[in-house]
Amino acid sequence: MENGAQPFWEKTYRSESQTFSVEPNATLKEFERLLSKQAGALDVGCGEGQNCLYLARQGWTDVDAFDISVYGIERVRRRCEAERLKINAFTADLREFQFKRSYDLIMSFGTLHFVSREEWKEFIFRAKENTGHGGIHIMQIFTDTLPASPDISEFAIGLAKDGELKELYEDWEILQFKSYTFEDEHPGVPKHYHASNKLVARRK
Ligand SMILES: C[S@@+](CC[C@H](N)C(=O)[O-])C[C@H]1O[C@@H](n2cnc3c(N)ncnc32)[C@H](O)[C@@H]1O
Repeated sequence: MENGAQPFWEKTYRSESQTFSVEPNATLKEFERLLSKQAGALDVGCGEGQNCLYLARQGWTDVDAFDISVYGIERVRRRCEAERLKINAFTADLREFQFKRSYDLIMSFGTLHFVSREEWKEFIFRAKENTGHGGIHIMQIFTDTLPASPDISEFAIGLAKDGELKELYEDWEILQFKSYTFEDEHPGVPKHYHASNKLVARRK
């Protein structure tokens, strides 16, 4: 992204069409009930906001969400206004993000691999430190089990090694870990496949 090239979502975030799923991530739906609706949540690389919006719709009152994309964040804010939901949505780069508070839930779906492996590991280290005891992380990252698909190959500079994400959480309780591949499709982008790791872990 530093060379001026832009990923496909920068165009579609500006349009009225939905880029990614309107449905929240199934793992978030499965695990959000473990925490109270007053818990503090952070959505990292929230994109159009389907996951943070889901929490707000469920009655969560303390939801922060950030993305590097100005257009993504504008869209989340418009949706909040339209649905009268309260989310603190702001632009930020996860490589530079400074935690000013701690959270009970930190989640990131399909984002971490867009920074280098060192950078996302460093981010996770800081995110762990800024999570309360009993707090939960839900992290999904693409792995190099399959090569990055053509739509993102230029940007996916930090594909994880399979299982590498889990190793970072050895001192936490692992509630779920999945390694899988899936078929994906977006407006204007042909069907393609991703390899992914998804982890749910709780701070002891
Ligand atoms: C594939 S989208 C996923 C969006 C959303 N999490 C979802 O599940 O639909 C990846 C998102 O990561 C964001 N992103 C990429 N690099 C980032 C960075 N360094 N800091 C914050 N967000 C970033 C992009 O702008 C994009 O919205």
